[in-house]
Amino acid sequence: METVVSGIRSTGNLHLGNYYGAIQNFVKMQHEYNCFFFIADLHSLTTHPTPANLHTNVKSVLVEYLAAGIDPEKATIYVQSDVQEIAELYLYLNMNAYLGELERSTSFKDKVRAHPDNVNAGLLTYPVLMAADILIHRATKVPVGKDQEQHLEMARTFGNRFNRLYNKEYFPEPYAFNFSEKLVKIPGLDGKGKMGKSEGEGNAVFLSDAPEVIRKKVMRAVTDSGPIKENQAKPEEIQNLFDLMTVVSTPDTYAHFDNLYNNMQIRYGDLKKQLAEDMIIATAPIRERINEIANDAPYLRQVARYGAIKARESAAKTIKEVREIIGFKSF
Ligand code: TRP
Repeated sequence: METVVSGIRSTGNLHLGNYYGAIQNFVKMQHEYNCFFFIADLHSLTTHPTPANLHTNVKSVLVEYLAAGIDPEKATIYVQSDVQEIAELYLYLNMNAYLGELERSTSFKDKVRAHPDNVNAGLLTYPVLMAADILIHRATKVPVGKDQEQHLEMARTFGNRFNRLYNKEYFPEPYAFNFSEKLVKIPGLDGKGKMGKSEGEGNAVFLSDAPEVIRKKVMRAVTDSGPIKENQAKPEEIQNLFDLMTVVSTPDTYAHFDNLYNNMQIRYGDLKKQLAEDMIIATAPIRERINEIANDAPYLRQVARYGAIKARESAAKTIKEVREIIGFKSF
């Protein structure tokens, strides 16, 4: 059976972008593949969280993975920092990752632009750690959004380079995987680009947001002053709202508002009201389970411990073989 790995950085609560972009795929894949889904807390260290925040964020992602339907009996769910073998593989892969290629990564360049005061080496080698996450289980499929394509290409490069250096076909090539052809970029509410927490207050709708909060955020979403001719192309901020409708609303609802837009009779207030209610309905069962699971400390402990044991079993096997390939020998 093919092996699947994916993770989400623990920087806070999960939003609709994480859910529709990644987690829905995780939930489907767990029935068909040998799946490893983790909480990327090592990656979150690039932004220096306080110890208290670090733990709260890991807990949120764990709770929300479970609430969204990842089943710890089917998939291995674990916290990245519980699997020390990942850090060891990261070290080995770093010896074969070159400054030039790391500096050329678009995510690195974006981070440098956004936070010129915190250009640390962890940020530069973020793709190496991500490659270690994937290669540690010798996975071939990685359910991630479009924005991670370049990171996956780097993971293939690092794996292949290791194979070539030691003249052994050890790491298979991992590729991005998506069950559906449907939209994997979930836009935010600020009218520009994708949903994300770092894009500012109100841009992201979280799975844990209460209905009133969702209504408030959606009503504040950026719109324009309306179409000025029939059947005109939608500007980005309006298209984004329609894109969100394709994931949470019925096709009839979408067609209804699309027609109103094309006839120039649209009232954005009505569209937003509908969108907010559909988001509330779509997330209601998850929200309920979040509240239940978050209060069940014994269950969370059990899931995390069981996941760590299973993940380490797989990781330890790889590390043992990697050490042999590299040439480490005990006296
Ligand atoms: N870089 C990914 C993101 O920002 C998170 C991630 C870290 C990841 N390690 C991974 C995803 C390994 C897939 C596989 O979304």
